[in-house]
Amino acid sequence: MAKERLQKVMAAAGVASRRECEELILTGVVRVNGKVVDELPAFVDPQADTIVVDGKRLRPAPKVYYLLNKPRGVICTNRDPQGRRKAIDLVPLSERVFCIGRLDADTTGMIVLTNDSELANELTHPKYKVPKTYLAKVRGRVDAPMVDRLKKGIWLAEGKTGKASVKVLKAGHDGSLVEITISQGLNRQVRRMLARVGIPVKALTRVRIGDLALGKLGSGKFRALSQAEVGLLKRGLRD
Ligand code: URA
Repeated sequence: MAKERLQKVMAAAGVASRRECEELILTGVVRVNGKVVDELPAFVDPQADTIVVDGKRLRPAPKVYYLLNKPRGVICTNRDPQGRRKAIDLVPLSERVFCIGRLDADTTGMIVLTNDSELANELTHPKYKVPKTYLAKVRGRVDAPMVDRLKKGIWLAEGKTGKASVKVLKAGHDGSLVEITISQGLNRQVRRMLARVGIPVKALTRVRIGDLALGKLGSGKFRALSQAEVGLLKRGLRD
């Protein structure tokens, strides 16, 4: 097994955040295979090395996975100097978890929380192109040329977006409902794509990540994912 940074291994075991673990290391309360390690960087093999923090042997925390239906106004970060409501505050757990990827504060819907940093890195890595599906309630009618442009890719500041799958589920002069699936994760990507083709968004919600759907989970509610559901999340990484 490859060596990993000591603070990362400590954080994954639920000791504290990586930053706080760095501070703990520097105060000299961490021993690796019996020897005090109080300098950084420090690397360990989490399978082979014995790590003791404040006299307590570190055991890797069991991996946990939760699905949250994020309400509006809640942010997907574990630290917010502005003190806004965070997704992790809605999931009162003993385990230290974080969001896999992000939804912007105005966007609602599906977010997975976990302590499995490996899965989080993979699901958000551009190379896997995990598809994510959103429902957008928008103002006005969405016409065929707009759909065409969205499907082909839209030029944003970062470059052209990849191909999208787009379905107009309801169309009317007063408003339309659009389902859009993208395989990238640029900041506020769906809102910016829709804005580029002149579609103002009233509400945006994520309903699917890979093969896993949000289903019937009330706003602000969360539940543990089953092994089978975690398998659905991982399936997209093999294809
Ligand atoms: N696209 C957006 O506009 N916002 C999100 O949160 C995710 C995708």
